[in-house]
Amino acid sequence: MFKRCLILLLSCLPLAAVADKFADLARTPPMGWNSWNHFGCDIDEDTVREIARAMVESGMKDAGYQYVVIDDCWHGERDANGFIRPDPKRFPSGMKALADYVHGLGLKFGLYSDAGWKTCGGRPGSRGYEFQDAATYARWGVDYLKYDWCNTEGLAARGAYLTMREALWAAGRPIVFSICEWGDNQPWEWAGEIGHLWRTTGDITACWDCEVDHGDWSSWGVLRILDVNAELRAHAGPGRWNDPDMLEVGNGMSENEDRAHFSMWAMMAAPLIAGNDLRRMSEATRAILTNRAVIAVDQDPLGIQGFRHRREGELEIWFKPLADDEWAMAVLNRGDRPQQIRFDWRREAVVDPLSGRRARWPARVFELHDLWRGVKIGTTREPLVAEVPGRDVLMLRLRRLGVRRDG
Ligand code: GLA
Repeated sequence: MFKRCLILLLSCLPLAAVADKFADLARTPPMGWNSWNHFGCDIDEDTVREIARAMVESGMKDAGYQYVVIDDCWHGERDANGFIRPDPKRFPSGMKALADYVHGLGLKFGLYSDAGWKTCGGRPGSRGYEFQDAATYARWGVDYLKYDWCNTEGLAARGAYLTMREALWAAGRPIVFSICEWGDNQPWEWAGEIGHLWRTTGDITACWDCEVDHGDWSSWGVLRILDVNAELRAHAGPGRWNDPDMLEVGNGMSENEDRAHFSMWAMMAAPLIAGNDLRRMSEATRAILTNRAVIAVDQDPLGIQGFRHRREGELEIWFKPLADDEWAMAVLNRGDRPQQIRFDWRREAVVDPLSGRRARWPARVFELHDLWRGVKIGTTREPLVAEVPGRDVLMLRLRRLGVRRDG
């Protein structure tokens, strides 16, 4: 009996400790970089090393980016005992060495696998090897796993993701678990108990409002993804995030579009996973990705996904409740032409229908901070009047000034 208790204690206590560590891994939306959007399958260890260095040298690390994640196509074959090995030509030093290098820069390391027999890129999937793969990732020093959904015919999504979550727990290393089944099985209803983030849509592509047909699937531009993800806000919160896919900032859209894309992802408390070539980004791209005031909106500790307050033609007015009774506001211009916005704080009550939080600007004065220009543009004493360029955004942080005295 004593022996059985001891075995139970030894096996269960560490598991409980891992469960606790997992719960705290993504209290705010994860930030990092992923190879897929820019490099696709054309990825190798030298590029990953250079990207990791660029993440430090560009100031992205200091701005909060942490994870360097290799997406599809790093895999070679399994060995005779079933252990997965990296592609020996592209990753000759092996994943442990690469993870050590990334860790040496003060960053974290991530990999991609798939719940099915093969990944979307046709490499070996984890089906049937979940525990072995999780143990391998833990041994290599992996901190983040993106787990895809190709070639899973006949599998139940919740069960398949739960199996890998069990495997990660059993491996004992705290690993962020990124669920990527494109919203096909309503992951917002179950994934919060299993992983830290879940994709809500199919793949993003670098355009404002397009759909690119790939035969049996299509990828979507920023606005289409935004519209789907916006409806799912009730499911997000600290440790469990809707994932509207990785960023396309710096991948070919205009500067306005990139700025609006980044702003709206921050308003939605989305994971901020850059997807561009960090080694060769323009100053404009770098400035967007490292805007700390916008990042602070994304990373706000309340973890409330923002909401669309109202539409006015091509303009949309969004709010996001922040800690300490502050608010973020975004005025998004979906159209091509500049639009005027007039917002009278005294006349317009803003209530978050989900959290019940009510903006208190009729009673208190808030300062308006323009997060892209980095200047104070007024207070809630006067109506906000501004012009928003086409396919762009005005993004503000509302800071409390004090109790209103002028009635
Ligand atoms: C799917 C995912 C993408 C990417 C590719 C890799 O399409 O949704 O984000 O991981 O697979 O093949």
